[in-house]
Amino acid sequence: MIAIGSDHAGYEYKVLLTELLSTLHLPYKDFGTASKQSTDYPDWGFAVAQAVSKGECELGILMCGTGIGMSIVANKVQGVRAAACESPTAARLARQHNNANVLCLGSRIIGWELAVDIVKAFLSTTFESGGRHEQRVNKIHSLTQR
Ligand code: RB5
Repeated sequence: MIAIGSDHAGYEYKVLLTELLSTLHLPYKDFGTASKQSTDYPDWGFAVAQAVSKGECELGILMCGTGIGMSIVANKVQGVRAAACESPTAARLARQHNNANVLCLGSRIIGWELAVDIVKAFLSTTFESGGRHEQRVNKIHSLTQR
């Protein structure tokens, strides 16, 4: 299950994302927002990050104007590794090296076609476990206690 969320700035991309995930036959849970009315990104970022933290959803995708605010709030939640990505390469490496479990996208930064490629790269790549990357990811949580 993929948790998705956005603020007003990411709302239109979230609608497109629901269509993309449906086409890919990937189940998702939409945590809002539900319109383009101005709202606060931490509310939605926190809700999606909590769903991932609790194991209710394996991965999350968050969208705001830049992807940055969402990544900041999501990374405050225990067990969450959120990556704001502007390229498919960054998304692939965020999964391979960092075991990122939340992808953040900026609707004011990237076009939708690029966003599709980023989402597909993120969802189709797995973590390179059992080596130096796993050791480093574990250290993130042991050093920061979250
Ligand atoms: C909203 O105007 C904007 O600040 C928000 O979507 C996001 O880009 C914050 O990081």
